[in-house]
Amino acid sequence: MKKSILIGLTLISANVMSAGNIENGEKIAYTCTGCHGIPFYKNPYPSYHVPRLGGQNETYIINALKAYRSGDRGHGTMKAQAGSLSDQDIADIAAYFASIGKK
Ligand code: HEC
Repeated sequence: MKKSILIGLTLISANVMSAGNIENGEKIAYTCTGCHGIPFYKNPYPSYHVPRLGGQNETYIINALKAYRSGDRGHGTMKAQAGSLSDQDIADIAAYFASIGKK
């Protein structure tokens, strides 16, 4: 019992310390990987180039998604993808993709 409380507290403090929650990001990012091709970083469909996100810089991903969401960066598909994401979703997704390859 005591042990589980300790683990719980450790998890909570870990979440507070990092802006993005990797585990939650992995859940949200499930749809993204259909195009962004993890773990092989390429996809037979769509056959056009899709940028690799795994191991990408966290801040870079956050900035890119916010730019798509606000329309600063124009791309129909990614605007639709980013449009429904909250700031927290974006932080979580960025933490997840940035964590890939570091483990
Ligand atoms: C239907 C296919 C598709 C899906 C699904 C998709 N993307 Fe993308 N994504 C693309 C393409 C194509 C580009 C390149 C767009 C461009 O040139 O601006 C891109 C670009 C990006 C970039 C910019 C990368 C760079 O190097 O500039 C980020 C970040 C990104 N996507 C994140 C996501 C996230 C997060 C999700 C899930 C919420 C997602 N994408 C879902 C196709 C997709």
